[in-house]
Amino acid sequence: MADKTFLPYGRQQVDEEDIAAVVQVLRSEWLTTGPMVEQFEEAVANFVEAPFAVAVSSGTAALHAAMFALNIGPGDEVILPSMTFAATANAVVYQGGTPVFADVDPATLLLDTANLEDLLTPRTRAIIAVDYAGQPCNYSDLQRLKERHGLALVADASHSLGAEYRGKKCGVWADLTTFSFHPVKPLTTAEGGMVVTSCGEYAERIRRFRNHGINLDYQQRSEQGGWYYEMTELGYNYRISDLQSALGLSQLKKLAGWLKKRRQIADIYRKELAGQTVVRPLTQLPNVAHGYHLFVVRVPVSQRARLFAALRAEGIGVNVHYLPVHLQPFYGHRFQTQRGLCPVAEQAYEEILSLPVFPGMQEKDVKRVVSCLNASLS
Ligand SMILES: Cc1ncc(COP(=O)(O)O)c(C=O)c1O
Repeated sequence: MADKTFLPYGRQQVDEEDIAAVVQVLRSEWLTTGPMVEQFEEAVANFVEAPFAVAVSSGTAALHAAMFALNIGPGDEVILPSMTFAATANAVVYQGGTPVFADVDPATLLLDTANLEDLLTPRTRAIIAVDYAGQPCNYSDLQRLKERHGLALVADASHSLGAEYRGKKCGVWADLTTFSFHPVKPLTTAEGGMVVTSCGEYAERIRRFRNHGINLDYQQRSEQGGWYYEMTELGYNYRISDLQSALGLSQLKKLAGWLKKRRQIADIYRKELAGQTVVRPLTQLPNVAHGYHLFVVRVPVSQRARLFAALRAEGIGVNVHYLPVHLQPFYGHRFQTQRGLCPVAEQAYEEILSLPVFPGMQEKDVKRVVSCLNASLS
């Protein structure tokens, strides 16, 4: 009988070491704003070789904090790819800014840097690049654009912790880089996120922002034995807990092995799918170490819905990442975005399928996906 065990498109790896790390924090004095947060920040900063890291409660909070650090506000425009999760654009809107949706390269679904200059106006303040599926963007082009036009560059690296561009990790290529630690991401803290930067001033502002805009956190006040604090600007409670940070620290030790596994799975998919023209994986660029948060293929529009249903019926949790954000009803209502704005992303949306990829997958699982795909092709 065929194996119908449900195979999700992504899932976390949590082992006994991770569980013990969390339990140890539960038995300790500090459940939040304690020492594990700083240790986790330091470990991620060291891992990506960025000078500063500030942990927050989600990848969305990290993006919001990045927009705040740049003082994005009403009247400011921020360019970002439409092929992303809504949170990338929402972060701009939280600050009162205007997201400007850019189209993507059809081969990779990363920002199409060749046409970005057409979107610049005197109000453009920043670009948010998204390392879609775990593949780093063309940061050489983005840095050139940033310098030429005096813009800030933010990397939404929610998919790409541990991925590399020209031999250096995501985290060093933009003014501010954000990560997400949601369970399907390269490592998880259940919910959580982080901003890394080489700018101490941005890091300081984000530390205040995640704590209501208050200038000293609870631990600092208790160390000083005092009670006085000031709220100097409007912030949020975007703090991450010590439980989550301990989980993240423990997970980080295993990240290199998991990335290797993700790349092996991608290699098997590519080998198994080579030589046929119906199911076409996105292109892997030559100058990157891809993180393979997602393994995305394109199929003919006429076959996508049927393949999706057939794979789901076999217990294979394929998914579609993403409906372009400019087509989300909220953006249509608020910013009058319409079909036709980003034709490459719109066409891709009709053709893409995310196949399962996560470190716990076995070679037989990958082959099961491929044989199910082949059997379902008409
Ligand atoms: C590209 C991208 N940006 C931002 C986010 C938001 O991250 P979080 O779910 O941790 O808030 C996600 C998560 O799904 C994402 O995929």
